Amino acid sequence: MAELLRIENIDVSYGAIKALKDVSMKVDEGDIVSLIGANGAGKSTLLKAIVGLEHLQNGSITYNNEPICAAKKVIHTTDQIAKMGISLVPEGRHVFADMTVEENLDMGAFMVKDKLLIARKKEEMFDFFPILGARRKQKTRSLSGGEQQMMAIARALMSSPRLLLLDEPGLGLAPLIIQDIFHKIDLINKEDKVTVFLVEQNARMALKASNKGYVMENGRIVLADDSKKLLSNEKVRHAYLGE
Ligand SMILES: Nc1ncnc2c1ncn2[C@@H]1O[C@H](COP(=O)(O)OP(=O)(O)O)[C@@H](O)[C@H]1O
Ligand SMILES: [Mg+2]
Repeated sequence: MAELLRIENIDVSYGAIKALKDVSMKVDEGDIVSLIGANGAGKSTLLKAIVGLEHLQNGSITYNNEPICAAKKVIHTTDQIAKMGISLVPEGRHVFADMTVEENLDMGAFMVKDKLLIARKKEEMFDFFPILGARRKQKTRSLSGGEQQMMAIARALMSSPRLLLLDEPGLGLAPLIIQDIFHKIDLINKEDKVTVFLVEQNARMALKASNKGYVMENGRIVLADDSKKLLSNEKVRHAYLGE
């Protein structure tokens, strides 16, 4: 499959803290790729760098054969990157609690000008996540954590992305709800042909759900392989699967 996203030798720092050190990786079109790592490893920083929310000290990021981020300069703004087809579901969901479900989905379509298309997309989302359809007029704060996560995913899909970035979709949710969400992610990939890059502390779920996986420790990629192989890798089993 063709390469959709390529990250080459990137460094990102917060003042004196080096959050990403010489990180390289790629995501091929059609895949579900996971990045696992402990709290503080640098996972969220990587996703933010991809959408232009953190600047690179070194290296570059290429999407669909076009440079989107490079060291010490802005090639595309976050809005432009979104328009190019990359959509991020941020850690902690960042839903607008005082807005209704439907209004939150409208926010996800802020750059879509075609009103009919927005309406159609919303109905698609309500079909795909029936619980959101049933609650479309309710304030988001009345939703459970799992429902809010589904809404955050639906909001990200409103712009019809080609690459969906998910930052810990399972964080803080009960195991059955996490399974539900990962099932939806699989359908989004298989049926809607959206390429998925997901980061998770929940290594088992993430590796089971993906084709390829990367392991990050202290801002560095320390392992990269087929997810199946990572699931049976001695180091991964010991350090991330509690075996
Ligand atoms: N806005 C920030 N300012 C300063 N340090 C930060 C900021 N965001 C993250 N960090 C630090 O960068 C490192 C990586 O963080 P993060 O990317 O959030 O890791 P993860 O998502 O894997 O938990 C951590 O040491 C964290 O404390
Ligand atoms: Mg994080």
